[in-house]
Amino acid sequence: MIRPVQTRLFAVIGRPIKHSLSPVMMNEAFKALGIPAVYVALELTEFILDMEHISAVGFEGLSVTLPYKGVARDIAVVDDEAVHTIKAVNCLKKASRLCSPNGRRWRGINTDWVGVVETFRRQGIDMGGRKALVIGAGGAAMAVIYAALKMGAEVTIVNRTDDKAFDLAKTFGVSAVEHDVLMERGEKFDVVFQATPVGMEGYGGEHIISYDIFEPGMIAMDIVYKPLKTDFLKAAEERGCSIILGIDMLLYQGVAQFEWWFDTPAPVEVMRSALYRAVERDDV
Ligand code: ATR
Repeated sequence: MIRPVQTRLFAVIGRPIKHSLSPVMMNEAFKALGIPAVYVALELTEFILDMEHISAVGFEGLSVTLPYKGVARDIAVVDDEAVHTIKAVNCLKKASRLCSPNGRRWRGINTDWVGVVETFRRQGIDMGGRKALVIGAGGAAMAVIYAALKMGAEVTIVNRTDDKAFDLAKTFGVSAVEHDVLMERGEKFDVVFQATPVGMEGYGGEHIISYDIFEPGMIAMDIVYKPLKTDFLKAAEERGCSIILGIDMLLYQGVAQFEWWFDTPAPVEVMRSALYRAVERDDV
């Protein structure tokens, strides 16, 4: 049997995974706290089989990214209400023994939504009773909607494919609006969350809403973190909005993972500067 004896093993799993910022963030955190561990990026092609190997080699904790957040839920023991709603696991921890009744080896949670809540909490923003517009209806949008509701916001969803927005609205018990009537309606929002890949370096595509939605005093957040300040956020800032960078969500979802694995406070500032440096250096 193979066992790591000098360093504890952690990884982010996904496909593709080459450009993940998580290794830089986590390895800096290990170094800062003197934890004898390494964190690597692993590209998986056959999830179930590959997870057997990962288990056998002795990995203790895994961050899970696309396209495996759904299947990770199927192999994990889950005691996290967020996972049931968002339908995704983004963090696994090896169980100390097989978890009956299914003989599962991993416990799973979702920290994506925590990334949003923590970002707002640390900036002292109270979302209670405020009107939030979420753009997008995919997995990332689900985490954002879940977070916005947890913070007490009143949520409306808008999406390129209107039907998906309405389906998701039903799931969460919130409102949806067709994208071509949103602007006509002239409805005001306190916060706009951009939860699609539009604006990501190399992705292309155009936003389905006009930047005219921004007004002074509003808050705009983008889940895209490369570039750090997207065109969406630049437009919001030019129109007098406060902006929240996607990288903060990435940071705090990672902080929550670290703290679940090690049961100790994460070195947040070390992790933040590791992330910012990596994006600015453009070396990932
Ligand atoms: P994820 O799980 O990462 O959020 P996803 O399920 O593919 O990914 O969802 C991506 C979201 O971004 C969807 O809301 C998608 O809109 P559709 O439901 O119409 O596909 C949205 N999206 C992706 N590319 C887009 C584009 N070019 N313009 C507008 N919306 C886009």
